Amino acid sequence: MPLSPVLRQQATYPFVRLGRRVAERRARGLEVIDLGMGDPREPTDARIIEALRDGVRERMGYPASVGLSELREAIAAWCGRRFGIAVDPERHVIPTLGSKEAIFSFAQVVLDHEAGRDSVVVTEPGYPVPERGALFAGATVLELPLREEHGWLPELESVSAFDWRRAALVWVNYPNNPTGAVAPLELFARLAALAREHGFVLASDEAYTELWAEEPPPSALQLDDWTNVVVFNTLSKRSSMTGFRSGFVAGDPALIDALRAFRPNVGTAPQEFVQRASVVAWSDEEHVERARATYVRKRRLLGDALARCGLRVAGGTATMYVWVAVPEGETSESFAERLLGLGVVVAPGSFLGPSGEGYVRFALVPTEEECARAAELLVQGL
Ligand SMILES: Cc1ncc(COP(=O)(O)O)c(C=O)c1O
Repeated sequence: MPLSPVLRQQATYPFVRLGRRVAERRARGLEVIDLGMGDPREPTDARIIEALRDGVRERMGYPASVGLSELREAIAAWCGRRFGIAVDPERHVIPTLGSKEAIFSFAQVVLDHEAGRDSVVVTEPGYPVPERGALFAGATVLELPLREEHGWLPELESVSAFDWRRAALVWVNYPNNPTGAVAPLELFARLAALAREHGFVLASDEAYTELWAEEPPPSALQLDDWTNVVVFNTLSKRSSMTGFRSGFVAGDPALIDALRAFRPNVGTAPQEFVQRASVVAWSDEEHVERARATYVRKRRLLGDALARCGLRVAGGTATMYVWVAVPEGETSESFAERLLGLGVVVAPGSFLGPSGEGYVRFALVPTEEECARAAELLVQGL
């Protein structure tokens, strides 16, 4: 049977293996608190759910791939309030079915093998989808390591002019999964200048902009010039709406035009009732402030326990992740295994890229009570 070589070579997603180990422990009746995956378990605001229900009609046709104008307007207005910028709902925004599918397929929109634009640059450790999407699109992938000594920012000087000129697409993700680091606007400005100098597209995955503990992180949308720049954002983390599947792409109108041409091929507009619920979600900040405060409390709770165990938080304070250095003499996997033995599930950093070795990621997704219990288990067991 014919099978894509990319699929054939794809090793079992390491999180699937981890999931099996967790299920085994649960089947033995042992306690498990899962801080492994980034799926928020906070409830979605009741008004959003109500709007979803109200949006269901007797007959629902195919949703238009450009989305409802009300949704584009709500997104543009949110961008305006949050980032102090002017966004045209017609030219600068397109809604997406969550951000994952849009991130995955974006390489297909910009790769041009004939013109010698055949590579995609990603950072690691990181969210694997930009790389997976690039590989399925037939691109060569260049991984830029993120290192603690460089504040988890990519070292742009290490990339040759040759590599920049081969790149169709360069991905960054700040606030960063898994390190929790925030990038200064200058990083976006430097990358956007390189994008225009060398002719690649800068794609900024900003899924976690609303989960911050100190001050609101910047967006690449705050750059004065959006030429060759697009931003991906989502309601998944901001509004605890992973199951709804609702996000957007905004930026350079030429790239939004390209997406308007591409996306009807794929059929990935969110269902209209999801779009109606999304209008409510983007138009309200109160529920986001509440969620943010909860994450801050959970971070403090876990941070205190980690400090008592002599463990060092190596990453930043944004996102829902706590990025922790493993004790000397242990690997990411062996330490994660030891924590699983205590009933606490974390993601080994090595699952997220080679530069993640030496760290583990705690996702602050369980309830506050469960996080408090995880903290207790750590303090008792380590
Ligand atoms: C860095 C990053 N980007 C994007 C996403 C995709 O989120 P969604 O497809 O739910 O919008 C995730 C999900 O975990 C993520 O970690």
